[in-house]
Amino acid sequence: MSFFRSILVTGGAGFIGSNFVHYVHARHAGCKITVLDALTYAGNLENLAGLLEDKRLKFIKGSIADAPTVREAMTGCEAVFNFAAETHVDRSIQEAGTFIETDVLGTYTLLRAACDIGVEKFVQISTDEVYGSSSGEHFEETSPLKPGNPYSASKCGGDLMCQAFFNTFQAPVVITRSSNNFGPYQHVEKFIPLFITNTIEGKELPLYGDGKHERDWIYVEDNCAAVELVSTRGRSGEIYNIAAGESRPNIEVAETILELLGAPKSRIVFIEDRKGHDRAYLMDSTKTEALGWSRRYDFRGALENTVEWYRSNDTWWRHVKSGAFRKYYDKHYKEKLEKGKTRGI
Ligand code: NAD
Ligand code: TYD
Repeated sequence: MSFFRSILVTGGAGFIGSNFVHYVHARHAGCKITVLDALTYAGNLENLAGLLEDKRLKFIKGSIADAPTVREAMTGCEAVFNFAAETHVDRSIQEAGTFIETDVLGTYTLLRAACDIGVEKFVQISTDEVYGSSSGEHFEETSPLKPGNPYSASKCGGDLMCQAFFNTFQAPVVITRSSNNFGPYQHVEKFIPLFITNTIEGKELPLYGDGKHERDWIYVEDNCAAVELVSTRGRSGEIYNIAAGESRPNIEVAETILELLGAPKSRIVFIEDRKGHDRAYLMDSTKTEALGWSRRYDFRGALENTVEWYRSNDTWWRHVKSGAFRKYYDKHYKEKLEKGKTRGI
């Protein structure tokens, strides 16, 4: 099956969503893209710089939990890619209400509209974190859900709603569960961008606990390629794991970042562990590989690309750290969006 002619990308101003918009825009010249994003603290229109003026892209500011806005955004779209979510584990430990509202209620609201409108495919972007912490075993798509924090519990809620909608209403849902992503446009609150930018700024790198927690880092472009493939070749009702298969301890990643930027290991400081900190996430992605996917980037090379991206996009991350990206939004887009302009903004 060829790619869709019109898609809705929710959360398209966030990290993976914006990478996916760039990815599709570059590869599918005939595809119209509507982005629906609430522009929370994590949504940044600078991530879509260069695309917002393009008539092929339509941007709607609004929440996936708001039914009328969702309906407006989804009308005319053949497929939905739901990247919108509250995503930061540390924030979910402080306050989980918005996680439940977006990740569960928002997903439900999208599913309702998708059934009414009759979209061809609904791709739910989920995470390895729904399986909980691994003590060495590689989780398969049939493994039980065992979320270890409020973020992953809310993602489980969204996934289960998708499965219920497939079972009850034959909604054409596929779920992707990927391991930890890294690459351009990732918010500086997350581990790799925080450690890269702190190193550049001469600051300390705050490592939780003993630093031996492991994550299986996947370059964001590899995840985008897998999501694209699953959307056209995946079977409705199925789940697809997307893992890089390169799990490594946080301390090793921190030391590699320091090495790449020529800074000493003494910058690392061990701080009190995160509450309920999952030790490791490991998945088997044979099922996705059977569709024809394999990762293109190895960890070291992709980390070098990422360090280089943050080095040469100094203004982007400094705007995120200082909150100045909000002023950019106010100056260039606020008035137009409030007046209802969505294309060529
Ligand atoms: P992100 O936090 O960078 O971006 C989330 C985006 O969603 C932001 O643009 C934000 O404004 C938007 N958003 C939040 N609430 C919204 C709402 N109610 N309505 C509309 N838009 C809303 O997140 P990310 O890292 O790009 O993650 C994208 C998806 O991928 C999420 O579903 C996440 O669970 C999943 N995922 C992420 C990773 C990772 O390592 N980053 C790994 C596996 C899965
Ligand atoms: P994070 O990027 O928040 O992703 P997740 O918790 O969803 O996997 O964190 C990745 C790993 O890095 C995780 O084990 C927690 C750790 N970490 C630190 O040690 N220090 C930090 O400041 C952050 C943000 C994360």
